Amino acid sequence: MWKRVWNHDKIAYGGDYNPEQWPEETWEEDMRLLKLAHIDTLTLNVFSWAALQPAEDTYCFDKLDKIMELAKSHNMKVCLATGTGAHPAWMARKYPEILRTDFHGVKRKFGARHNSCPNSVVYRKYSVQLARKLAERYKDYDNIVAWHISNEYGGECYCENCERAFREWLKDRYGTLEELNRAWNTSFWGHTMYDWEDIVVPDGRSEHIDEERTVAQGISLDYRRFNSDSILECFCLEYDAVKEITPGIPVTTNLMGAYKPLDYMKWGECMDFISWDNYPSNEDSVSQIAMNHDLMRGVGANQPFVLMEQTPSQQNWQPFNALKRPGVMRLWSYQAVAHGSDAVLFFQMKRSIGSCEKYHGAVISHAGHENTRVFREVAELGQELEKLGDEILGSTVPAEAAILFDWENWWAVEYSAGPSVDLKYHDEVMKYYTALHRQNIPVDLISENDDPLGYKLLIAPVMYMTRPGMDERIREFVKGGGTFVATFFSGYVDESDLVILGGYPGKLRDILGVWVEEIDALPPHKKNRFFYQGQEYEAGLLCDLMHLEGAESLAEYQEDFYAGMPAVTRNSFGGGQAYYVGTRSGEAFYHQLMEDICKEQQIQPAAKAPDGVEVTKRVRGQEQYLFFLNHGEGKVHVEMPEDGMELLAGKACRKGEMMELEAKGVAILKVQPKQ
Ligand code: GLA
Ligand code: ZN
Repeated sequence: MWKRVWNHDKIAYGGDYNPEQWPEETWEEDMRLLKLAHIDTLTLNVFSWAALQPAEDTYCFDKLDKIMELAKSHNMKVCLATGTGAHPAWMARKYPEILRTDFHGVKRKFGARHNSCPNSVVYRKYSVQLARKLAERYKDYDNIVAWHISNEYGGECYCENCERAFREWLKDRYGTLEELNRAWNTSFWGHTMYDWEDIVVPDGRSEHIDEERTVAQGISLDYRRFNSDSILECFCLEYDAVKEITPGIPVTTNLMGAYKPLDYMKWGECMDFISWDNYPSNEDSVSQIAMNHDLMRGVGANQPFVLMEQTPSQQNWQPFNALKRPGVMRLWSYQAVAHGSDAVLFFQMKRSIGSCEKYHGAVISHAGHENTRVFREVAELGQELEKLGDEILGSTVPAEAAILFDWENWWAVEYSAGPSVDLKYHDEVMKYYTALHRQNIPVDLISENDDPLGYKLLIAPVMYMTRPGMDERIREFVKGGGTFVATFFSGYVDESDLVILGGYPGKLRDILGVWVEEIDALPPHKKNRFFYQGQEYEAGLLCDLMHLEGAESLAEYQEDFYAGMPAVTRNSFGGGQAYYVGTRSGEAFYHQLMEDICKEQQIQPAAKAPDGVEVTKRVRGQEQYLFFLNHGEGKVHVEMPEDGMELLAGKACRKGEMMELEAKGVAILKVQPKQ
C-alpha cells in the first residue's frame, strides 16, 4: 500500500482563503465560486493572531468557529494554520522584546509580518499557547488534513535576546572558551574571547562589512546556524503543542525552495511532510523551477510533498508582475506533480481590497464572478484533477543520479573573502542540475548526511566545506563503483571554515587524484579555454592550477602561463571513477560531460523527448506514471516509450506511437504493467 502525504484521496486543490477579511454575507457566494472551480482544500487562519487573541488574557474564536463550520458544511478539507506569522500590536506594545533587531542594529517597531524575535520568551510562550488552543478547539474536525505552522519562516534577528541565546548555543557547541577560540581562529586580528559575555552578534556593527561579507567567517557561520536553529525551535515548539492533542494530523510549514537563510535539510527532519511555495518569474528557466521542486523533495527524504502556494496568474512583489500566459498555470501545476507534489494549492482564493496583496493573482478576482480567464483555467484544471482520482498519489520519483546540496557549505562559500565575488553556490549547482534535467535524467538533491550508496552518480559542486566523515562516505561510494564529480573550490575547509592543511582539495585529494596548487580568478570579461573530446569550451570564473596525482587529464588550458595544465581530470579509484572539473565552463560543456558520464554509467532518461519537453517518472509499486510537459511555444510530437493509458485525455497508447502535444501541453502516460 502506498503512503499518503495527508488524508486526501485525490490531488488536493485549493489554497489560502481569508474570509475573515470580508463581510460574512460574502462567504456563501465564495463557496459557490470555489465549488464551481472544483476546489476541495482551504488553507485557513494564516494571519489571524490579532483577531484570535485581541488582548493578553482574551481569546476569541467566534469567527474562526464559523469559518470552520463553513468549510465543513461545503465538504472542504482544511489545512489549518496556527496563525503565528505576525504577532498582534498589543503584544509589541506591551512586550517590546518580541520585536526583531535588524542587521544594522535597528530595533524594529510593530508592523509587517514575520517580525517576531525567534528567541523572545514572550513570542514562544504565546505562539505555542495559540497553537495549543487551536488544536484543543478544532481537534474533532475530521476534515483537517494538516497543521500549517506559522508561515514562511525566515529572516534573522540580532537583538539582545538572540545575543544571549547565541552564547548558550555556543556553550553547547564548544563547551569551553578555549575550544571556541580555536574554532573561530580568534588569534587573527586580536579577537580572543576572555569571557562568554565578550561574544556579540556578528552584524553590521561588529564583524560584517555588509550582509554578505564578514571578517570572521567562523563567527558568522555559527550565527547562521544558530539563527536557523532558533527559528526551527519555534516551529518545533508549536509542532509539539499540536501533536500532543492531535497526534494523527500531519504537521508542516511552507518552505520557500532554495531559501538561503534556513538550513532546510535540517528542517526537513522535523516536519511530517514538506510543503513549499513556488513563485517563479516568467524569466526563470524550466530547470530552475524543476530544481526547486527536486530540492524540496530532497529536503523531505524524497517522499511526496505539497505545493502549498503558487499564483494562479501573477504576483505582486516582483519588479514586473507578468501574467502567467494561458496554459502556463496548468503546465506548472503538473510540473509540481511531476516532480513529486500530491497537491496543487494557490495563494490565494480571493483578491483582497486593501494592502500590498490586492493585486496578487487569485481565483476570485475583484470582478467577483466566474467569467474571467483565470477562473476558467482554474476550474478546468480542477475538473481534470478530479477525474484523476487517486492516480499518482503517494508515488515517488526514483533517480540514479544525485547532487549534493548543503546549506552550511552555501553559507561558507559565499562568506569567503576571495577568490571571486561572482562565485555563487546555487548557480554552480544549477549548472549541473540543468545539464541533467535538459536530458530528462531524474536527479535527487540530497544532503550531506544522506547515504549516496544507492546512486550511480554523485555530483558535489563546489563542496568547499568538508565536515568530518564526509570524505569517508564519498570514498566508500567511489570504491564501491560509484561515479563522483567534484569541482573547483572543493575540500578546502572543515566545519569551522578552517583550512585543511597539506594541499587542496584536502581530504578529497586521494579520491580525485589531483593536487591543486593555485586558483586563478578571472574577471567576467576574461576567459581561458580548453578542448574536451575534440570540442573547444570556455573556462572562466576560476581556473585551478593543478597537478595529476594518479588522475588522467581529460582537457588542458590553452591560454596564459598555465596553458597545458589539466583543467578536467578523471581518476580511477577502487571500483569507481572520480571526475574533477577545475574551472567553470558553459552550458554546452556541462551537457556533454553529463551525457558522456550517463552513457557510460547507463543512467537512463525518464524517456526520450524533443527539446523543450520535460519528462519525469513517478512510481508507485508496479504503477509507473510518465509526465510529458511541453514548455515550448509550438506543437510537438512525442514517441510513447511504452504501452499504456494517457490519463488526461483518457486514451490508450501503443509503444512507438507519436503523441501530439500542444504548446504548453501535458500528457501523463500510465504505463501498462508488464505481464
Ligand atoms: C508568500 C506568503 C503568502 C503571500 C504570498 C504572495 O508565499 O506565504 O502569505 O504573501 O507570498 O506571493
Ligand atoms: Zn532576537
